[in-house]
Amino acid sequence: GDEPLVLGIETSCDETGVGLVRGRTLLVDAVASSVEEHARFGGVVPEVASRAHLEAMVPTIERACEQAGVRLHDVDAVAVTSGPGLAGALLVGVASAKALALGLGKPLYGVNHLAAHVAVDELEHGPLPEPCLALLVSGGHSSLLRVLDVTDTVEPLGATIDDAAGEAFDKVARLLGLPFPGGPHIDRVAREGDQVAIDFPRGLTSRRDLERHRFDFSFSGLKTAVARWVEARECAGEPVPVADVAASFQEAVCDVLVRKALDAAQQDGIEDLLIGGGVAANSRLRAMAEERAARVGVRVRVPRPGLCTDNGAMVAALGSSMVSRGRTPSALDLPADSSMPV
Ligand code: KG4
Ligand code: ZN
Repeated sequence: GDEPLVLGIETSCDETGVGLVRGRTLLVDAVASSVEEHARFGGVVPEVASRAHLEAMVPTIERACEQAGVRLHDVDAVAVTSGPGLAGALLVGVASAKALALGLGKPLYGVNHLAAHVAVDELEHGPLPEPCLALLVSGGHSSLLRVLDVTDTVEPLGATIDDAAGEAFDKVARLLGLPFPGGPHIDRVAREGDQVAIDFPRGLTSRRDLERHRFDFSFSGLKTAVARWVEARECAGEPVPVADVAASFQEAVCDVLVRKALDAAQQDGIEDLLIGGGVAANSRLRAMAEERAARVGVRVRVPRPGLCTDNGAMVAALGSSMVSRGRTPSALDLPADSSMPV
């Protein structure tokens, strides 16, 4: 085809992702995850992640090219997540991308991980409506963004002031004796539970909190409330109704996420809301967002679960937009920036 072939590399957390995109067409999304190596620690161990990226990088690039039926020499541009994320993990991706770009004599594009979570939706649902709002919820981040141009103007409206939404899912799952990562397990168990059984707190929604934190999130108080509730049951020698706790906890998280996202949409008069990140796979979040958004005339876009979690295709997708919008490539001294603002 005439459209540029873009290779994207993602290593900001525990997934080694290599994606190949031609224009807006996804050719392949190869992911090697070290999640099992972290499971026994109950969270991602940075040093373990970096080492796993080093081992997985070359085989994952080879696998991606093989599956897409392209040669490395056919690649027209190399995109890589340069931040935010785990410093050591990012470095592996950035160094690999530089080596590739230099070796192939092709431009290098350092991209922002959060913007890439937004751009990936173009691979599934076509051109992104701009402006739109993006709610990004994963194990590492929970942000509400105003997207004017995904390649260079993404404004943060709010973010979590403590735990990320996915982190809260993982911690509560652990408390309930469910495996890591806990989000999918809570989602599954909650289907058998009653979401109004327990009235857990909605963080940063009081009138006073809204003054300073209208679009920010807080999930650590919720996690503590769940822990106390479970403890009280255990101390009383009563069984813990796991499904009800899971459903009520999930309801509290989704309620706040959807409420604030739609509040922002109405404030700005924006009619499109994109939800991304691993937690976007949550079935209750999807259903609630669609139901409440429809009531206020907002359209919801959620990429399929495989594109919501960290992957290389999202980086390739954003890289591809940068190429087509004529953005300036990055210099070969592109740094990895663990706390890169969006
Ligand atoms: O985007 P992601 O793969 O990695 C980063 O953290 O960046 O997100 C992983 C997070 C984990 O916390 C996991 O528990 C959560 O997404 N997650 C879910 C679901 N599937 C994954 N949370 C709630 N419901 C789900 N169905
Ligand atoms: Zn992510």
